[in-house]
Amino acid sequence: MNNEVKLGDNFYWVGGSDYRLHLFENTFPIPNGMAYNSYLICDDKTVLIDGVDSSIRDLFIANVESVLDGRKLDYTIINHMEPDHCAVFVDLLMRYPDMKFIGNKKTITLLKQFYRKITDEQTIVVKEGDTFSTGKHSFAFYMAPMVHWPEVMFTYDTTNKVAFTADAFGGFGCLNGNLFFDELVDKETYINEARRYYTNIVGKYGSQANNALKKFANIEINMICSVHGAIWRKSEDINMIFEKYQKWANYIPEINSVCIVYGSIYGNTEIVAHKLAQNLAQKGISKIKMYDVSKAHYSYILSDLFRYSHIVFACSTYTNEMFLNMETLLNDFVSHGVSGRKIALMQNGSWAPQAGKLMKSKLEKLKDTEFIEPLITINSTHDEECYMAIDELSQNIYNSVLN
Ligand code: FEO
Repeated sequence: MNNEVKLGDNFYWVGGSDYRLHLFENTFPIPNGMAYNSYLICDDKTVLIDGVDSSIRDLFIANVESVLDGRKLDYTIINHMEPDHCAVFVDLLMRYPDMKFIGNKKTITLLKQFYRKITDEQTIVVKEGDTFSTGKHSFAFYMAPMVHWPEVMFTYDTTNKVAFTADAFGGFGCLNGNLFFDELVDKETYINEARRYYTNIVGKYGSQANNALKKFANIEINMICSVHGAIWRKSEDINMIFEKYQKWANYIPEINSVCIVYGSIYGNTEIVAHKLAQNLAQKGISKIKMYDVSKAHYSYILSDLFRYSHIVFACSTYTNEMFLNMETLLNDFVSHGVSGRKIALMQNGSWAPQAGKLMKSKLEKLKDTEFIEPLITINSTHDEECYMAIDELSQNIYNSVLN
C-alpha cells in the first residue's frame, strides 16, 4: 500500500504515521502517535529529502517506488542523521545502489557510524552556503547545529521556495489525512504539541535555534516542511509559528500569568497550592494553570514552564530531599536553561522542611530568575499562619504579574 501526497509539480510527501508508538524516544508520551515526513522531488534528477523511522518502513518504500514510477533515486539529502529519519537508508541503497547521500561533514561522519559499510564514494559533502542543482530545482544549505543534533542543517529549495527544516517547526502527533496546519480541526491542540515537541527536544539549545532562525528571517518561504507533524503553507501560519519559535528560542513567556506545580504526598501541599491559586484568581489573575507533578508527565509541565511568566513550585520534603518527581522536573527545567522567570516557592515538612532551600539552590543557576517572597512553609498541614503567608505571597505575585 502507498499513500503519497502531491504537494506541487513533481513534489511529493512520502511519509507516514506511527499510531502504535506510546513513547517518542522511549521517553515522551505521544497519545496521538507520531508522524515522520519525507519529501521526494522528481526533477531531471530525483532527490529525496530526509528519510523516516523504521516503524513505517514498508509504507515509505511503497510511497517512494510509487512516485518514482520506475525511475531510480539519484540523491538523498540528509538534514538530520537521527534514526527516526534515517532508519531506511540501507533499504534505499538496496533498491538504488547508485544513490548518493548529501550532507555536511558531521552528517557523513554520523552516517558512517550508523551504517559502517557506506563509503565516501556514496556521499556528497556540502557546507553552509553551498547549492546543489537537480535540473530545474536548486537547493541551498544552511547549517543549523544543535537544532537538535550537531549535524542538523536546513535545505531551501530556491525554485519552489520551500524550507526543509529537520525537527524544527515539527510537532508530536500523527497526521490524519490532512497534512497542512491550515487544514487541522484543532489548531490550538497542535500548537501545544508543537511547543511540547520544541521545548523538550530542542529547547535546551535556544541560542543555536535563534541563530538558525535568523538565517531564514529574510528569505521568502512558501512552505515549511518539517520532518514531524503538519506542513506550514499559509503566510499567516508561517509568520505565527516563526514568532512562536522566536519566543521559545529566547525563553520569552507567551502568557503573563501563573503556573503552579506541586508535589504532594498526602494532599496537604496540594490544598495550600489550590488556596494560592484561588487567592490569585480572586485578585483577577486569569489563565492560571496547575500541575500535580506526580500525575502529569514532566514534558507537558516543561512546555508550560516555557509558556508562563510566573511559576510557583510547591513541594513536600521527602527523605530529607525534595519530592523525587519534583526533583526530576527541576533538573529538566534547569537543564533546559529556562531564563527570566519569576518564581515563588512553597515547602512542606513535618519535622525538617528542606524542599524550599533545595529547590532554590537548583533554580538559582538559571539566568535572570527573580524569586518572589515569602517562601511558604507548611508544617504538615496548613494553619492560620500559613494562610496569612499565602495572602502575602498572592499579593506579591499579583503585583509582579501586573507589572
Ligand atoms: Fe526527529 Fe532529532 O529527530
